[in-house]
Amino acid sequence: MMIEIPKILLETLRDAKAVAVLTGAGISAESGIPTFRDAQTGLWARYSPEDLATPQAFHRNPRMVWEWYQWRRQLVLEATPNAGHLALAAMADRFESFRLITQNVDGLHQRAGSKDVLELHGNLFRNLCFREGIELGPSLDSPEIPPRCPHCGGPIRPGVIWFGENVSESLYEESLEACRRADVLLVIGTSGLVHPAAGLPAKAKQAGAFVVEINPEPTPLNTLVDLSLRDKSGSVLAWILENLS
Ligand code: APR
Repeated sequence: MMIEIPKILLETLRDAKAVAVLTGAGISAESGIPTFRDAQTGLWARYSPEDLATPQAFHRNPRMVWEWYQWRRQLVLEATPNAGHLALAAMADRFESFRLITQNVDGLHQRAGSKDVLELHGNLFRNLCFREGIELGPSLDSPEIPPRCPHCGGPIRPGVIWFGENVSESLYEESLEACRRADVLLVIGTSGLVHPAAGLPAKAKQAGAFVVEINPEPTPLNTLVDLSLRDKSGSVLAWILENLS
């Protein structure tokens, strides 16, 4: 059973020329990837983010942090895109402009076929030199944990944005631009707590977009959005795609 979706959503989407989408961990939940802030099963349930997802944590215990990310990489490799990722990929061609902004680092949007994804928090499978920040290839030839940079010997870190680090300015600007010109913004599966991504729905709203949230749970975005669809994103997005034409 799925919630009933108000007609206004399809009407607004049919008229829309520019659509933007902001996704968070919730869109990948139905692929079996844990979200972050679920009290029981979330990725931060057993650890605090400060112990694993900060430059200081990596400096203190590079082995533990690297192994945690290797575990997450494995989890993602074994997962497949779900109906929500697939519907968004298929929806892109229906609009003059369609921009997908994600806080996720799992690459499942791209595996579902989405193009030009704005990955605000980086990607799990990128490797960077911790010292110099230079990008190294996806495959590493070093037996150490974490592997060592072939140029300077420094430890290698995953190419994700950690707490205390800045989101790429150009990616943020592009995301902001997409939200400002959007007729409709879909905000999917994010708790709306981590900035600057959490501020994007308000920017879209100020610029006149119709903002729709898809999330089984209420979030702080409640008061801002035009429409809240309290259900899982996989079924809701598949329904929207099917009924759009
Ligand atoms: N469909 C849609 N939403 C869902 C589903 C589902 N099937 N299952 C869970 N959710 C919702 C939850 O209700 C919650 O609001 O997804 C949201 C996930 O929230 P978080 O775990 O906080 O994830 P996110 O908002 O992406 O976190 C933002 O914080 O830890 C950092 O860098 C990390 O990118 C992450 C950022």
